[in-house]
Amino acid sequence: MHVEDSLPELKGKTALVTGASRGIGAATAIALARHGVSRVVLHYGGYREGAERTLSLVEGAGAEGELMSGDLSTSQGIQAFVADVKTTVPEVDILINNAGSLVGRAKLDEFTEDLFDRVMNLNVKSVYFLCQAVTPHMLRVGSGIIVNLSSIAARNGGGPGATIYAAAKAAVSAITKGLAKELAPQGIRVNAVSPGTVDNHFHEVFSTKQALESMRASAPAGTLGTNEEVADTIIFLCTESSRYIHGQTIEVNGGMYMI
Ligand SMILES: NC(=O)c1ccc[n+]([C@@H]2O[C@H](COP(=O)([O-])OP(=O)(O)OC[C@H]3O[C@@H](n4cnc5c(N)ncnc54)[C@H](OP(=O)(O)O)[C@@H]3O)[C@@H](O)[C@H]2O)c1
Repeated sequence: MHVEDSLPELKGKTALVTGASRGIGAATAIALARHGVSRVVLHYGGYREGAERTLSLVEGAGAEGELMSGDLSTSQGIQAFVADVKTTVPEVDILINNAGSLVGRAKLDEFTEDLFDRVMNLNVKSVYFLCQAVTPHMLRVGSGIIVNLSSIAARNGGGPGATIYAAAKAAVSAITKGLAKELAPQGIRVNAVSPGTVDNHFHEVFSTKQALESMRASAPAGTLGTNEEVADTIIFLCTESSRYIHGQTIEVNGGMYMI
């Protein structure tokens, strides 16, 4: 699929992309606009400058865009953002639950309850309750697309100090299957994309150059992933080409882990 192709099924649709200030979320928001989504609502955590950059590229691609912010690592932040979504953008046709993070690496003996809650809130609770927030409209119109971001960590238990992040991403894959079963009969498709190692801000923060090089060397494809490579798979899951795919977690990892 060529990235500039406008797809008729995306015309007139409203998409909400969480974590669109950078990385995979930004690439996905821009790709959705280029493929013909009419309105792209961009959520960000704290990086407003990045969100504004994504917004200008979304608008440059011909879509309407708007920014919304919210900290999704606390229950209060999730509740406030969910309430905001319900009032300001009640007609989401495509939800990309992308915001996520390791938050911090910590081994068992140093892991705190606060860190546990933040990892779970951001990567699991926000995903589930955003699905809950957008489905009334999808049920009314009898169609909708949800794509969640899992991780290779869900399959391999994660790198050092990332056990709870890995568990959170495994929960995302399970939620994807459960909601797909619940919602498929009403025309809503729920799937997930599971990146391997993407060479972006995430690993600038959480991995050393040596660790990244060893991950690259272990990938049969010989490269780390890019934001756009993950975004292309997300776009596929938003289109009619994937119409019979429900509840799947698609691995995008250059062959780093095969199942
Ligand atoms: N990079 C990888 O190799 C990789 C691998 C597997 C899975 N993933 C998953 O892919 C998704 C996108 O990650 P990425 O690689 O694009 O990472 P990234 O470049 O670090 O971007 C993460 C996005 O999530 C948002 N976010 C982080 N913490 C947040 C919080 N507390 N509240 C609200 N938003 C928050 C960030 O917003 P602000 O910057 O505005 O705060 C940012 O827009 C995540 O779910 C991640 O777990 C990534």
